[in-house]
Amino acid sequence: MSIDLPLAAQDAAAVLDRHHNPTEDTTADPMIDIERWLAHFRGNQENRTEPEWEAPITMSAATIKPLLRSLEQFELGDGGGPDRLIARNADSFRCGTAARQELVDMWFVEEKEHSRLLGGLVQRFGGHSIQGHWSFSAFCLSRRILGVGFELSILLVTEIVSTAYYRLLCQYGEDAALKGVCRLILRDEAGHVAFHRDRLARTGRPGGYGRLWEIGFRALALGAATMLFVNHASALRAMGAYRSDFYREVRHELSLFLRRLRSETAGYHGEHHQGQGA
Ligand SMILES: [Fe+2]
Ligand SMILES: [Fe+2]
Repeated sequence: MSIDLPLAAQDAAAVLDRHHNPTEDTTADPMIDIERWLAHFRGNQENRTEPEWEAPITMSAATIKPLLRSLEQFELGDGGGPDRLIARNADSFRCGTAARQELVDMWFVEEKEHSRLLGGLVQRFGGHSIQGHWSFSAFCLSRRILGVGFELSILLVTEIVSTAYYRLLCQYGEDAALKGVCRLILRDEAGHVAFHRDRLARTGRPGGYGRLWEIGFRALALGAATMLFVNHASALRAMGAYRSDFYREVRHELSLFLRRLRSETAGYHGEHHQGQGA
């Protein structure tokens, strides 16, 4: 079995090359702490242990079959599609500053790496990469037509609910390579969620991140979680994880995100701003 060598480090270097003077305006972006997050993405390329691709496969065929269908979809959906923001007005966010463009590119380099890792599992279990799926088409369509604000929100909630999925795969999957892949992706996604949380906290919003805002955010996340569960329940069940396990993880991730968002917003803007109204 041949698995391509890790691309993320090479691609990250290419991103740095492409952006001529990447730090020229690191202090000029009011929405993002550019220096902090460029350092994060560069540092995250270090110490990445490749999964044990050659480890013996001990899971039963009955477990592997639904797992494979699930991994094939995730290979496409988690970094296997467009490696950029695709909203019709994406450039209004992406090109705010040269450094922000570099940051967004490095985020997508990590997403592309997830697709490579998942593709390694698909190969390992004897599957084939897929080129399309109705859920991925719907996901891309909503990102494209509803504007970059919505696209960033839907990518964030997808990262939060995907964390629940990967955590269950890591916990229940009796396979060394599967666990290795999940650990790497979970590490990256924790950084991605923290990046978005910091961006939202730093920007703030007029009414703060109060109860009404939370209801809308949780509803969006619940929709994303349900979409994920509908397509991947059989894989989770085959490994011994139940619906209740999945939704418990989702609720945990959401609550953690909201608690930290409010705390970090208070750090940037003061207690009075972050918990008011909608
Ligand atoms: Fe990802
Ligand atoms: Fe991500």
